[in-house]
Amino acid sequence: MSVAAFLLNKPSRAYQAGENTVGKEYDAWTEEGILEYYWGEHIHLGFYNKSDIQNIKNPIKSSAVFKETKYKFIDEMYKWSGAEAGGNKPLKVLDVGCGIGGTSRYLAKKLGGDTKVTGITLSPNQVQRATELAKEKGLDNVEFKVMDALKMEFPDNTFDLVWGCESGEHMPDKYKYVEEMTRVLKPGGTLVIATWCQRETPPEFTESEKDKLKFLYEEWAHPYFISIEEYERHCKKTGKLEAISGANWVKETIHAWRHSIWVGIWDPWIVIWKGFTSKVGPWIWWKVIREIVTLERMHRAFDSGLMTYGMIRAKKQQA
Ligand SMILES: C[S@@+](CC[C@H](N)C(=O)[O-])C[C@H]1O[C@@H](n2cnc3c(N)ncnc32)[C@H](O)[C@@H]1O
Repeated sequence: MSVAAFLLNKPSRAYQAGENTVGKEYDAWTEEGILEYYWGEHIHLGFYNKSDIQNIKNPIKSSAVFKETKYKFIDEMYKWSGAEAGGNKPLKVLDVGCGIGGTSRYLAKKLGGDTKVTGITLSPNQVQRATELAKEKGLDNVEFKVMDALKMEFPDNTFDLVWGCESGEHMPDKYKYVEEMTRVLKPGGTLVIATWCQRETPPEFTESEKDKLKFLYEEWAHPYFISIEEYERHCKKTGKLEAISGANWVKETIHAWRHSIWVGIWDPWIVIWKGFTSKVGPWIWWKVIREIVTLERMHRAFDSGLMTYGMIRAKKQQA
């Protein structure tokens, strides 16, 4: 193996139990600002239609379309959740693992002033940035808190809609994640989760698949992934959820990985500039090269079926 291949294969942000690795990584990403520059207010994949796919390599439209697909994703996830199936819109919404609050703010605006949205994250810097952006947008029906999704401070039966978008990946206990979200959900309320999953086993993973998964776990502070089916089993195991269903949205979202690389190709200036001005200096260029490699490895893992894009929805049974 060449030195470059060895270095690129070496995990740079492995999850460490009890170290708040996730909170610290998101604090650093938020402070650095590169993620927000390229991804905007949302740290999740987008939902792509034909014209979005055609615009990925369009230097003029690529960046705007990249961000638009993320809003489209929220609209599609909201529709799919069936949160308004009973005719009522949710009045209390919890965004579990809210990032810098893009989804919380979008839902707060979409659902209107009588809906209150609360976003929680492990990263104080994200809470600060999310709150700043809410103020800038004049939104007063959204709030952000530093809180662990596995030990939430909310009483039982508090929210009409509990939303987890690409936070499950980081959870060291996926059952507890589902159980806690179910606990704080009101009877009749909706739980919806979007999360990167690995394929169901059996068949058991080959050695090559295990290597690929190990890299994907360790690069962005993921303790491990589970399958969509395992999430559904976790939902059933709570004994409190019904109408449980799962789906794989890999076709709708996979384009985001390479699109993310293209937006950097069309507009690399912030990265070049930060190499001269940030406190880590040119080290940032190496970090970005690693991100590109990881984005491509993610794309390949989803493309090959090793990874799937999990959507899980359920209703809490009436007491
Ligand atoms: C990939 S980001 C997704 C952000 C957001 N949902 C979005 O769509 O923009 C993952 C988020 O999950 C949060 N997270 C991970 N583990 C968490 C935990 N145990 N408790 C609360 N938040 C957590 C991280 O702090 C981060 O904000």
